Amino acid sequence: MNDKEILVLALPKGRILKEVMPLVRAAGIEPEAAFDDKDARQLRFATNHPHIEIIRVRSFDVATFVAFGAAHLGVAGGDVLMEFDSSEIYAPLDLNIGHCRMSIAEPEALRGEDDPRTWSHVRVATKYPEITKRHFAKRGVQAECIKLNGAMELAPTLGLCQRIVDLVSSGATLRANGLVEIEKIAEITSKLAVNRTAWKTRPGEIGGWIDRFREAVNAHAS
Ligand code: PRP
Repeated sequence: MNDKEILVLALPKGRILKEVMPLVRAAGIEPEAAFDDKDARQLRFATNHPHIEIIRVRSFDVATFVAFGAAHLGVAGGDVLMEFDSSEIYAPLDLNIGHCRMSIAEPEALRGEDDPRTWSHVRVATKYPEITKRHFAKRGVQAECIKLNGAMELAPTLGLCQRIVDLVSSGATLRANGLVEIEKIAEITSKLAVNRTAWKTRPGEIGGWIDRFREAVNAHAS
């Protein structure tokens, strides 16, 4: 079997993986044992299907692999897909996992005296500069983004800037850092991401897997 016939499924490392795996397994894909071995340095895993492989990469890299067709299918958060905004990625199925929201937050102390409607310029620390700029541009506000890759909540306390755009789930991280949400930008869930060309050239196979994931999502919900 040559590499062209292999179907690569890209999964995100980290806490979302725990929620994703029951769906992957319910869709009928079982990775080799090394996949669950935390110490394994392997990045590419065989499955119970000889022509399906799983790769485990950082969440933003799922979008990169799928956009360039290096992975045919992937699981990506709505946050990553919005930030990436690629015409090469279709997201035909909401997996109904990884629920959170993307919000703007600022120090509690600032909230009383602050009126976001009067801003013409705002400086924001975020992992999501494109989403942030687009969001503020819609109402004529210029957003100057300071790109961080995590721990955005540190920015206000250390004087980097007063506002952040970040994912909020329980709200515990914001509270622990004296921050409050002042506006929600979007509700976020994880989606099945599909490379556009792969779907066009292998419609039966890719469509079949989308259907199996859909059935897994529906069974999970009921
Ligand atoms: C995410 C997010 C917040 C936190 C929100 O970070 O960036 O920091 O979770 O969750 P909460 O509202 O339940 O406290 P994550 O732990 O995924 O790591 P990161 O900082 O590397 O993005």
